[in-house]
Amino acid sequence: MYTMDNQNNNYPWEIKDVEPQLAEELMSFFTGELTGFVQVGPKKYFLPHKFRQEASNIYNMPLRSNDIFVASYPRSGTTWTQELVWMVANDLDYEKSDAIPLTERYPFLEFSVYVHPLMKQRFIEENKHSEHKLKLLELVTGPGTQQLARIRSQRFIKTHLPMSLLPPKVLETSRVVYVARDPRDVVVSFYHLNRLIRTQGYVGDFKTYWNYFIRDLHHWTPYFEHLKEAWEKRNHPRLLFLFYEELCKDLPAAIRRVAAFLGKDFSEDEIAKLRDHLSIDNFKKNKSVNYDVMKELGILIPGEQGFIRKGKAGGWRDYFDEEMTAQADRWIADNLRNTDFRFPHLV
Ligand code: A3P
Repeated sequence: MYTMDNQNNNYPWEIKDVEPQLAEELMSFFTGELTGFVQVGPKKYFLPHKFRQEASNIYNMPLRSNDIFVASYPRSGTTWTQELVWMVANDLDYEKSDAIPLTERYPFLEFSVYVHPLMKQRFIEENKHSEHKLKLLELVTGPGTQQLARIRSQRFIKTHLPMSLLPPKVLETSRVVYVARDPRDVVVSFYHLNRLIRTQGYVGDFKTYWNYFIRDLHHWTPYFEHLKEAWEKRNHPRLLFLFYEELCKDLPAAIRRVAAFLGKDFSEDEIAKLRDHLSIDNFKKNKSVNYDVMKELGILIPGEQGFIRKGKAGGWRDYFDEEMTAQADRWIADNLRNTDFRFPHLV
């Protein structure tokens, strides 16, 4: 079924509703969504129904020449890259990075579409005793474009949208750091996050989750289209393409690449200090980056694994049975056929 209510001259992509019966099935597993889902454009990017309200505002948002986007498919090392990029761009200002939570330093462009109005009402109800929390809630759940319009200093923007849903001049005007990760580790990590975060509220098992993911019936999929859109631009001077596995293997080298991209130069001691700051152990202890705000507001479910979790490459092996492993091999090979994209850790 086509619905045209979002279609206007300022938005080039068609937004189609996911067929109601399938949407009902999905909502029985993903309990944070209460209306339905859409698929956007020829690649059918899968997003919550509320994306209709934001699609054009995002696509047409005014850009600034010093904006820096950190973009990725979820669970690819976005938070890690965000802190790395922010530290480099801000000349290693540890004091400021400690003082201001990453969620404030980086508005999340499309997060508001993941907060269903009824869920938001619940969050407001639960936090109504505290002015401070209500304010925070508004900050975290309000449209990213509005938050960004209010910022006077240099803007750092987190997004999981693929390049084609971002403002078309993003690389002419601003800069993008894109980070990619082995999809098998992504899916394990995202499964845990979908259980942890009430806006997604996943209640099924891992195998069911995996099957939705590879059928492109999960948020921000199709995974490989997302990746390929950024990969095509990897030689653009305003896009830096990183791999999570590269950060794991040689973080100082990744720091140097980011520094070169942003026109900064640091000594070996400064790089070593930043490497320690970005280590998984320090990240787990760092209140500024570990999404304490979301915990404080009750958006994260207690008892599930945390936002900063294991921080290792290759953990998927503990989750995939033989059938899934073979399925993953085929799925990866099919998607990489006729492209020059390769994961560096797999060649
Ligand atoms: P795991 O769940 O596999 O541990 P994102 O920020 O895109 O949501 O990605 C989250 C993933 O990055 C999680 O993976 C998380 O643990 C990992 N991560 C976050 N900070 C990290 C760090 N400093 N070092 C290594 N991995 C990190």
